[in-house]
Amino acid sequence: MANVTVIGAQWGDEGKGKIIDWLSNRAEIVVRFQGGNNAGHTIVVGDKTYKLSLLPSGVVQGKRSIIGNGVVVDPWSLLEEIGKVGAAGLTVTPDILTLAENAVLVLPLHRELDAMREEAASQKLGTTKRGIGPAYEDKVGRRALRAIDLKDLNSLPAKIERLLGHHNVLRKGFGHPEANAQALIAALREIAPKIVPFIGSSWRQLDAARRAGKRVLFEGAQAVLLDIDHGTYPFVTSSNTVAGQAAAGAGVSPRQIGTVLGIVKSYTTRVGEGPFPTELKDETGEKLGERGHEFGTVTGRKRRCGWFDAVLVRQTCITGGVDGIALTKLDVLDGFSTIKVCTHYLLDGQKLDHLPADANEQARLVPVYESIEGWSGSTQGARSWADLPANAVKYVRRVEELIGAPVSLLSTSPDRDDTIMVSDPFMDR
Ligand code: GDP
Ligand code: IMO
Ligand code: MG
Repeated sequence: MANVTVIGAQWGDEGKGKIIDWLSNRAEIVVRFQGGNNAGHTIVVGDKTYKLSLLPSGVVQGKRSIIGNGVVVDPWSLLEEIGKVGAAGLTVTPDILTLAENAVLVLPLHRELDAMREEAASQKLGTTKRGIGPAYEDKVGRRALRAIDLKDLNSLPAKIERLLGHHNVLRKGFGHPEANAQALIAALREIAPKIVPFIGSSWRQLDAARRAGKRVLFEGAQAVLLDIDHGTYPFVTSSNTVAGQAAAGAGVSPRQIGTVLGIVKSYTTRVGEGPFPTELKDETGEKLGERGHEFGTVTGRKRRCGWFDAVLVRQTCITGGVDGIALTKLDVLDGFSTIKVCTHYLLDGQKLDHLPADANEQARLVPVYESIEGWSGSTQGARSWADLPANAVKYVRRVEELIGAPVSLLSTSPDRDDTIMVSDPFMDR
């Protein structure tokens, strides 16, 4: 039996939360390894809906959960989320949740800088304004605060002085008042006793789990097309979202990440700015958005919608390291008489089978489609392969062919149980 790493294979919101919750039944530990509360993972169990941003989706099944060192953590948001899920009946205590001691903290000044930049930019990125980019910048710039710093409050003033030395120059440039060091220290002193009980070592716990033969599920956030290296730069997030990041962002060997499951929506969506070759700014796009309830989990923004882009997913399966996919939201395509799939692009009249790295070229791509006959029956809530209309099966098989990766799971509604297992991702291949 292998571990499993789950990543998004498009632009996010593919249904990672649903699939991770479903898989976590058969894992003992669930670990987040990058991103922060820019993520919004929805889990529906019967009449209950959970929206998780920082908590690993395993908490819904009461699984031991780790927020790895690769995650940037807003401690106030973390406590708020623990409170929210607590009110919904899930108790998250230090017995089940560990926050990696070496995870970087997202502070109010990061959110502020994120907002200042977006406001001032002529070409906006459309970030979630959660301070994610600025926090990763401080991490790489070696001036960030980390969770462990909350255990040594006396060291805070010197660390904050160093941090503000950098931020105040930027704030001044944006015409904003300097950050208040005393207020920040006071806020951190106040929150520290509530966060410290959760702080521990991700790498040591996962090493012990490996020795004990426990199965681990690594939970990616965002998606490969938002990856800082492999995404549609600069319209990306500020972390690596590919499977390899699970090792660095949790403190395990690359050999421990196991089978990589890419989550793929049966069509394409994107929230925020940036190129989107198959975007439909017409009735069909509206219909996909309506049927799929495509509104951002974190910001409530309307998601842009379009047909399935096989060129992109073929590429993200390679750059992301995907072994097999979970194809979600097949039910949203119910009732379309014709479904289109992008098989390649034209760039200035030339055929192209991949996404070019140049942003200007990305913006000029013309998608070329193959039309596939839709189905009249319903796939909604289907729980077995045999329940699917013949044309829906054909669609799934064509997607597999075009992207060059097998479908391992199929999802036919938001609900946990409406999931079809084609092959078990936990089985060693
Ligand atoms: P994530 O960020 O990848 O976890 O995805 P989000 O939770 O942001 O967005 C996916 C949305 O689609 C959520 O509202 C899910 O409840 C919903 N969803 C997941 N799988 C399916 C599916 O197979 N069919 C339908 N109709 N909705 C789904
Ligand atoms: P999940 O895990 C979809 C997008 C933002 C913006 C860009 C940069 O729910 O799939 P950031 O705040 O990260 O600096 O924003 O990335 N973005 C997401 N889009 N799903 C997400 O997460 C996202 N997290 C960030 O909309 O375009
Ligand atoms: Mg989401």
